[in-house]
Amino acid sequence: MRFDSPVRVARPALDVLDQTRLPHEEVWLSLRRVGELCEAVRSLRVRGAPLLGVCGAGGVAIAAEELGVADAILQEAAEQIADTRPTAVELRTGAELALATALARSPRDRADTLWTFARDYLSRRRDEDARLASLGAGLLDKGSVVLTHCNTGMLATGGIGTALGVIRVAFEQGRLSHCYATETRPLLQGARLTAWELKQAAIPSSLVPDTAAAALLGTGKVSAVITGADRIAMNGDTANKVGTYGLAAVASRHGVPFYVSAPRSTFDPGCPTGAAIPPRFRSPHEGGGFRGQRWSPDGLGAFNPAFDVTPAELITAFITEAGIARPPFGSSFRALLAQP
Ligand code: MRU
Repeated sequence: MRFDSPVRVARPALDVLDQTRLPHEEVWLSLRRVGELCEAVRSLRVRGAPLLGVCGAGGVAIAAEELGVADAILQEAAEQIADTRPTAVELRTGAELALATALARSPRDRADTLWTFARDYLSRRRDEDARLASLGAGLLDKGSVVLTHCNTGMLATGGIGTALGVIRVAFEQGRLSHCYATETRPLLQGARLTAWELKQAAIPSSLVPDTAAAALLGTGKVSAVITGADRIAMNGDTANKVGTYGLAAVASRHGVPFYVSAPRSTFDPGCPTGAAIPPRFRSPHEGGGFRGQRWSPDGLGAFNPAFDVTPAELITAFITEAGIARPPFGSSFRALLAQP
């Protein structure tokens, strides 16, 4: 399998790699309807907060082709798309920015404008990832060992990645000697996607069952934990794939720095603290099986949140394309977000 982005802006469709089929099958979906795009986001065929920004923008372009370019039609489509995954603020940002850009144009130009906007959004992702990854790599000393969670690489952004981008550049610079990747139950983004990306990049790596991550941190072998983020509140509380909070708490217990790596588009100025991020639960069915294979008896309830919120005090620093933000986060975020 060789590709450099899991999304291609291919008017009149958004072509997306079906990530539920990885790592063993490369299946591309050609999405031409808003409903198809929303289903792909909901079922995590396409995923990762930064990549969802491209999907938000591309979704409004699809709406223009499928449904027309009238104000009300585009507004309704943007809202429908944004609501599909409320935790990922960038899905809404991508859809709303695309909408505003289109509405500023005459109806005749709107479809062209939207496809161009989606294409530009993807290339901005790539530029921002590259800058963020090189700034983050500078935080690691030669020979560092890093633990990461979920998938934050090319498959999640369309560029080099956020946390995984830092890991890749650090490896190229000789700063990283080994990467541990959590399996990330219940959908195994670490075991299926991060493991695949690490292997492609020939980075020495090991898979860690989620239940073994605390024991690994307790060994003293890990120099830093680096994760991505789905949404960052203005006080630094951070929503990310469930399990992140536990890693941050145990890293703090063992004095291991915990870095969150994300573009500034993941920061939500409308969200003062993590308490404003509503919990999102997935199907109780999900933990008891995978890809049609069931290992739990039917009919059990489950506690299956998609995300958790890591309190700001457990986070050492945020790595963004515009710089590193350290505590106190209120003022360091304001400085970051004020930059062009
Ligand atoms: O549910 P997923 O697989 O989309 O979860 C992904 C994460 O939690 C990522 O850490 C986050 O979206 C940032 S991806 C660069």
